[in-house]
Amino acid sequence: MKTLTVLGLESSCDDTAAAVVRHTIGEPAQILSSIVFGQTELHAEFGGVVPEIAARAHAERLDICVEQALEAAGLGLKDMDAIAVTAGPGLIGGVLSGVMCAKGLSAGSGIPLVGVNHLAGHALTPRLTDNAAFPYLMLLVSGGHCQFLIAKSNDDFARLGGTIDDAPGEAFDKTAKLLGLPQPGGPSVEAEAKSGDPKRFSLPRPLLDRAGCDMSFSGLKTALLRTRDKIVAQHNGLPRQDRADLCASFQTAVSDVLAEKTRRALKKYLELAPSAPLLAVAGGVAANTQLRAALETVCAELDVTFTAPPLALCTDNAAMIAWAGLERFRDGKSDDYGLSARPRWPLDKTSPSMLGSGKKGPKA
Ligand code: KG4
Ligand code: ZN
Repeated sequence: MKTLTVLGLESSCDDTAAAVVRHTIGEPAQILSSIVFGQTELHAEFGGVVPEIAARAHAERLDICVEQALEAAGLGLKDMDAIAVTAGPGLIGGVLSGVMCAKGLSAGSGIPLVGVNHLAGHALTPRLTDNAAFPYLMLLVSGGHCQFLIAKSNDDFARLGGTIDDAPGEAFDKTAKLLGLPQPGGPSVEAEAKSGDPKRFSLPRPLLDRAGCDMSFSGLKTALLRTRDKIVAQHNGLPRQDRADLCASFQTAVSDVLAEKTRRALKKYLELAPSAPLLAVAGGVAANTQLRAALETVCAELDVTFTAPPLALCTDNAAMIAWAGLERFRDGKSDDYGLSARPRWPLDKTSPSMLGSGKKGPKA
C-alpha cells in the first residue's frame, strides 16, 4: 500500500502515549497526532518510578489517550492500517497494559497488530523526522537508557556500547536530589551549573581509561556525594556558590565522558563508510546545551552531520512507536495474539545483555 496510517501505543515507563502517523512512499512522514500523559506527579514523593503505580495509571488512561489521539488526527480506528504497540523493554506491568490494550483494539476491529521494541522506536526516530538513510549512528541518552547503536536497517542494529550502571539522566536526577534541587534533575542541575565553575572540583571521568564505548555514571555520583559531605562538614551547610560549582563540575564530567565515547563510536561507525555520515541523539538528556555543543564539536571534527529530533520526539512518545510499527508493517511483518510483553529485549541480538537495571527499568 502506498499510504499507511498507523496508531501507536507506548506505556513502557512513566508516560502513557498514543499517536497516529501517516506515510506515503516518496513523501515525508506526517505525525497526525501525538498525545502524552505524563505521570511525574504520581511518583514525585517516591523519588523514582513505582512500577505498580505506573502500570495502574497506564491501564486506566490508555483508552482515553487512544481516543484523544484518534480525535486529534480527525480519524477513526477503522481508518488505521495497523496498531503498533511497545512490547518491551521496560517495566513489565506497563508494557503488559499497552500490549493488552492493543490486542483488544486489534481483536475488536480486525486491524493487524505490530509489536515494537521501544529502543527501535527511539533509534528509528531520525527517519520519521529527517528521513535519515541507513546506516547512521544513534546515541540514546535518557533517564532509562544510554547506548550507542548503529542503525543498519529497521531490524538490524549493532550496539557499540552503553552504560554498565546508571543512565546519565538518572545521574542528573540523583545529583539534584543530593544537592537539594528539584526533579527532574537534568534541567535544574543545568540551570544551577550556569553560574558555576566547572573546574572547581575534579570529579572522575569513569571508564575513559578503558577501551571501547561502555560507560559508567554511578561512581561519579558517589564522588559528588563525598565532595558535598566535605563541604557540608566544613560550612555546616552547602553554600550557594559551592552548589553551583558542583553542578558545573558534574555536568562537565558527564559531557566529557559522552563526547569522548561518542568520538570512539563515530570512528567505528565510519569504518562502514556511510555515504552521508550522521549522528543522531535522542532521550531527555539530549536537551542539555553543554552536551549538545560537545557532541556537535566532535561531529565537526570528524565531518559527520549532527541531528537531534525536536525534544517532544526525543523523550518517550507514541509517534516513534507508530513509525517503527509502520516500517515493520511495510516490510510485511505483523504479530498474532501470542505477542508477549518483554521486560528485557536487547535490540542487538548478538551482543550480551547490559548489566544492571535503572530506576526506570532494565537498560536493554
Ligand atoms: O527521555 P526521558 O524523558 O525519559 C526517560 O528516561 O524515559 O528523559 C528524562 C531524563 C531525566 O532523567 C531528566 O533529568 C533528563 O532526562 N533531562 C536532562 C535535561 N532535561 C531532561 N538531563 C540533562 N540536562 C537537561 N537539560
Ligand atoms: Zn525511552
